Amino acid sequence: MPPSSADNQSVRSAHSPFPADFLWGVATAAYQVEGGWQADGKGLSVWDVYTNTDRMAAKGETANVALNMYDRGQYLQDIALLKDLGVNAYRFSLNWPRILPEGTGAPNVAGIAYYRQLIADLKTAGIAPLVTLYHWELPQALAERGGWANREIVGWFRHYAGVVFDALGRDVALFLALNEPSTDLSFAAYAKQFRETPRREWVPLTPLPPAAFTWFPGQRVVHHQQLAAAAAIEEFRKRNLPGRIAAVAMLLIPALPATDSAADAEAARLADGLMNRIYLDPMLKGSYPDDVVAALRGAGVELPVEPGDMEFISQNRADFLGVNFYSGFPFAADPAATDNWGLRMTWSPSPADPYNGPARPDLFTAGLLRLKADYANPPMIVTENGTGVPGDDELVGGHVHDAKRTDYLVSHVAALGEALREGANVEGYFHWSSHDNFEWVAGYGRRFGLIHVDFATQRRMPKHSAFIYRTLIANGGRVPA
Ligand code: BGC
Repeated sequence: MPPSSADNQSVRSAHSPFPADFLWGVATAAYQVEGGWQADGKGLSVWDVYTNTDRMAAKGETANVALNMYDRGQYLQDIALLKDLGVNAYRFSLNWPRILPEGTGAPNVAGIAYYRQLIADLKTAGIAPLVTLYHWELPQALAERGGWANREIVGWFRHYAGVVFDALGRDVALFLALNEPSTDLSFAAYAKQFRETPRREWVPLTPLPPAAFTWFPGQRVVHHQQLAAAAAIEEFRKRNLPGRIAAVAMLLIPALPATDSAADAEAARLADGLMNRIYLDPMLKGSYPDDVVAALRGAGVELPVEPGDMEFISQNRADFLGVNFYSGFPFAADPAATDNWGLRMTWSPSPADPYNGPARPDLFTAGLLRLKADYANPPMIVTENGTGVPGDDELVGGHVHDAKRTDYLVSHVAALGEALREGANVEGYFHWSSHDNFEWVAGYGRRFGLIHVDFATQRRMPKHSAFIYRTLIANGGRVPA
């Protein structure tokens, strides 16, 4: 007699929903960990300038040294720590001006050699690299030529991607073109504002800036990001490389109506369009969402779509989608917010709240299932998920008992397991981050790592959450009772 569906359910739930070849990883980004900001012919990125010249980060901090991972002696110790964690994959980014100091032109041999060695060292340790081409390390030379607002960036990025694929393409199974393009735009807007403010003071950004939607001209730039990612994918395909590539690691921000009024439902839908669908629809459905295009037009913003662009994006589809998830937020209609699409986010954090929003594992499951339902269940990898909470990272007696991060980790891995059970096509999970590191405009003051770092001595110390992650990995996503 065939088993009933109830029997099937109990058989499945007795087993882990995570397949044996699931990718369990941790993630970092070049500017946040490398240091070596002027080593071996590296050019400047916008972040080198934001921190050193503009002093835009908290306390005037820079990532000139950061975690010193440009030093092989240091990163080999870090790889040993990753091995102890039990991960089988590591996501990191390439620093564009380390490879092309001026953003275009001839490659810097030393920069390429560094990444080639890092990739070889990871693989020797049995850790698969997932390589992000761009995690906001825009060459300053290109920023001075208009950066993402200049359509020429599509060609600049194509050239850079080609150089990377020629040098490293046969050694890497997973590439990703752009990290969180929406946050990149938000930081560009923040920098612009910061430079225009007479009393240049650091203003905390909590939670993550809700994407480009606070910056109208930013909306135009989205189209250049789409084209650049598609151009990188085209370069990848031309070379018949063995691996796979994603266009983006998408910052997925579920947008909830603040109340059950029709106006708030409409506000949440528009917020979702401006933060999520404006990226997802062109890549996965071939066109920009109508309601977003109409809202942009209403604000006097026209996406700079030229004939053939949408076909080009559709012809160069990614192999998988990177999903970064931290939290979700409520939105309300606010007709007075004329400079912000007539809506506002209503979460007002207290000083004790997590930096990137409240823990909402339910929205993690729902977000992945929404991608399954609305976008034909693309292959997905969770390329970031994690938390930082004030007071959670105190070093006491040589130990960091980061209870809040640990709870977040366990509940979000369970939420991912739930999405897998419901059929979401997710192949991997990368925790953000392996180490405490340079948290952009917040400097070193906001910690997100499983491994504690003493930034003065470079001493590393795995936190409680690191031991729990190892247990989760070893036990198919569960902590044994
Ligand atoms: C970014 C990371 C950042 C993390 C924690 C993500 O938005 O990709 O670079 O450090 O969130 O805030």
